[in-house]
Amino acid sequence: MSSSLNEIKEKLNGYNQQQLLATWELLDREKQLGFVKHVNAIDFEEANFLFKKAKQSMESDIKKLDDFMTPVPATQYQSEEKVCAKTLDEYRSIGLEAISNNEVAVLLLAGGQGTRLGSDNPKGMFSVGLPSGKTLFQIQAERIRRVTALAKEKYGKFGTIPWYIMTSGPTDRTTHKFLVAKNYFDLNEKDVILFQQGLLPCYDFEGKILLNEKDHVAFAPDGNGGIYKALAKHGILNDMEKRGVKYVHVHSVDNILVKVADPVFIGYCVSKQAECGAKVVKKANPNEPVGVICQVDGKYQVVEYSEITEKTALLKNENGDLKFNAGNICNHFFSTSFLRKVVNECLNDIKVHVAIKKIPYTNALGKKVTPVEANGIKIEKFIFDVFQFAEKFVIWEVPRNEEFSALKNSDEAGKDCPMTARNDLLALHRAYVEKAGGRIEAGEVEISPLLSYAGENLENIVKGVTYNNKGAIQLLPENKLNGVNGKH
Ligand code: UTP
Repeated sequence: MSSSLNEIKEKLNGYNQQQLLATWELLDREKQLGFVKHVNAIDFEEANFLFKKAKQSMESDIKKLDDFMTPVPATQYQSEEKVCAKTLDEYRSIGLEAISNNEVAVLLLAGGQGTRLGSDNPKGMFSVGLPSGKTLFQIQAERIRRVTALAKEKYGKFGTIPWYIMTSGPTDRTTHKFLVAKNYFDLNEKDVILFQQGLLPCYDFEGKILLNEKDHVAFAPDGNGGIYKALAKHGILNDMEKRGVKYVHVHSVDNILVKVADPVFIGYCVSKQAECGAKVVKKANPNEPVGVICQVDGKYQVVEYSEITEKTALLKNENGDLKFNAGNICNHFFSTSFLRKVVNECLNDIKVHVAIKKIPYTNALGKKVTPVEANGIKIEKFIFDVFQFAEKFVIWEVPRNEEFSALKNSDEAGKDCPMTARNDLLALHRAYVEKAGGRIEAGEVEISPLLSYAGENLENIVKGVTYNNKGAIQLLPENKLNGVNGKH
């Protein structure tokens, strides 16, 4: 043991992290052995490098970005509402063809802990109280199934859309168990691939890594930008390349309206030969606290609301729209070759974001301390911080009521919560029914994603029908109508 103690002492001294041995004498022999293993698995080179970057970013983050920002050029920005039906159809066809050729994958970001929502389970398992009771995972899986059916209708082949799900330490096991119990919502098990994002140590303000337990370092998930490292570490990018995937749709788990593997968005990005694309919605108002996508010193970037002054947030362009209006909704397109470039060449250049936090820790006496004031930092990376590496970057603006309603908070917040997510989805379904020639006079109508992906395929069922029911009705495939609380 003394030799392993000496070795580890030397190692930690070398990285100036000797405080991690403060509780060594309090551990029994077995725990000491375990601790040596635990510490040896940590990449201190990287940990110290990241702290250095974090320190720099804390110092530089103070300046506002107003003077350096310009909107993304109009040549790289299209709004779905302004594109003619023919062009939309061309984009859709390109996307569906890619799907039927097995060239499209979906990458779901499901590693977040959903602290604001306050549910014990991963967010994807959350049901917002739809008539069907479906969870976010189920809705998304069914959209994947439906869009492959649309590809088959048009190009004769279903194609496979592999569903890569990035989990984290806190969400992995429960997500896996849930998907197994639900039989992967009838997707092929081999095409649903879970992998875990990484963890990063928590530091005090001097860069000393904190102990969580006497024999365990304090860690936190490395943010949704941890995806790039995880893609390499777990061979996910290799798997994509082996399958012949060329285009990846990446999105957050918590947008109930997300058009998973959206063929229109994919087709638009492919037709522009983009390496990277972002779906955006117009800001709801100048003070909405969302990040906007723009260029900073000529590079594509998400600028957070806190990084600009109100004066800039209020600026208008010649059409009377906000000048910085491209609200980021965590909904992105990447070519597989771009992901390869990021993984091979850019990992160390990805920005780090710093959260100053109260981090519970174990002190040198082996006592757990719950600080009353912030005592350290957690480092996170964000998915969008690779935009700057893209040579060809495009933006696709979509109507918020059709594509974006986030589940962030519990109902008490009154916004971005289960109630708003549920209402937004049912309002969209009402609009689909009306567009297809039906009427809803009373009650609610929920459309199964297996029947309709984006309002198509409904006329046969709803045209000329008036729904006047007490409760809710689900529209299911094969013209099955399923009364939930009421009758059709
Ligand atoms: P948010 O930043 O909204 O975080 O995640 P969250 O965990 O869902 O909620 P809070 O902040 O704890 O209340 C945006 C997307 O990024 C994923 C989330 O799962 C969500 O899809 N995410 C977030 C990760 O995959 N990993 C992370 O470390 C953080």
